[in-house]
Amino acid sequence: MPSLTWFSDLEYWLVDEPALSRAVLTDDRFSSSTLNTSFSRFSSGHIHQECAYLLDILRRWYVEHDPPQHTAERRVTQAHFSRGLLTRLGPAINDIVDETLDALSARTGGVDAVRDIAEPVSARVIGLALGLQRLDISQLHRWSADIAAFVSAVYRLDLARKAQQAVLEMADFIRQELTGQAAEGLAGRYQDGDFLAGVADHTMMLFGGLETSARLLGLALWELLCTSDRAAVEVEEIIDRVLRRYPPLKYVSRVAAADIELADRRIRAGELVMVSLTGAEDVATPALAFGMGRHFCLGMPLTMLETTILLNAFQRRFPDAALAAPNAEPSGNHAYHGFHRLPLVL
Ligand code: HEM
Repeated sequence: MPSLTWFSDLEYWLVDEPALSRAVLTDDRFSSSTLNTSFSRFSSGHIHQECAYLLDILRRWYVEHDPPQHTAERRVTQAHFSRGLLTRLGPAINDIVDETLDALSARTGGVDAVRDIAEPVSARVIGLALGLQRLDISQLHRWSADIAAFVSAVYRLDLARKAQQAVLEMADFIRQELTGQAAEGLAGRYQDGDFLAGVADHTMMLFGGLETSARLLGLALWELLCTSDRAAVEVEEIIDRVLRRYPPLKYVSRVAAADIELADRRIRAGELVMVSLTGAEDVATPALAFGMGRHFCLGMPLTMLETTILLNAFQRRFPDAALAAPNAEPSGNHAYHGFHRLPLVL
């Protein structure tokens, strides 16, 4: 199979070879501003009218923007996600993991690694990193799943309505959380009076960070339990294997900003390109799971820390744990790897 394919039915290119994915992600002629293209190509007028607020917020996510706008917007949150943050949060993440694993012993009716481990740990860690006080764990995951469902199928009016409802509720929640916080760091853009920018930054990080890290935690636990000699394998190796074979987010998208020759094909200006993040089996090259280039994931160090702490603690506490039958239930979203349920026997 060629590594660059034009799908004329869906009207997009698929790049599915790691070296070519890297080439696209580091080529400035590909723009990240893809939503306008996919909304105009795939979403109906009903969605544009009824869900204008949703589309407006998603278009404001800076993961959608190119330089120089992107550079300036990213700077605000990049400063927050510094090494200092990890040093400060490390002990609290240890506590979150310990408390979550303690609670498993008290559970009756079986343990589900998604509901009982991955969801609470990911929500509490992201809440901690963003300085959120009033966390409703299942609510946060419902919001992020509703947004993920629409972003993966932008032609569905029913999913657009649910995603818009989620973003409206998140905006309310963010307004309450940020009111009264010091006008620095993440709260700064909101307190400058640019409320929509604050909502956009926070919804992007809550959604982007939660959906992906919960999936990574579930996938990493699954991979750990599938490894026969797991006591002899470093958890870092298990996580790396998951990131290469089953990146939580399978694709990112780009739009050609000019006519571009790539792998003996001609991509025309304005065409949509889906870039696969799966692969990169050669350990000498970095995994693509967190992207590459100027949009490289800001939350990567936090997520890696949280996943390493969880796997080490889980392995220490439950060395005989196993996957239960009936086994793992994959989640129904085609754009992500991960599980809806992952029953365990401890
Ligand atoms: C397993 C966990 C995670 C995965 C797999 C992941 C994946 C990614 C990927 C692939 C991108 C690049 C998107 C692109 O190039 O279009 C990205 C960007 C981003 N991620 Fe993550 N992410 C994770 C966790 C987090 C967390 C915990 C946060 C923050 C709380 C976060 C915040 C961001 C932000 C703000 C961007 C946009 C960066 C930019 O546009 O400059 N991510 N992430």
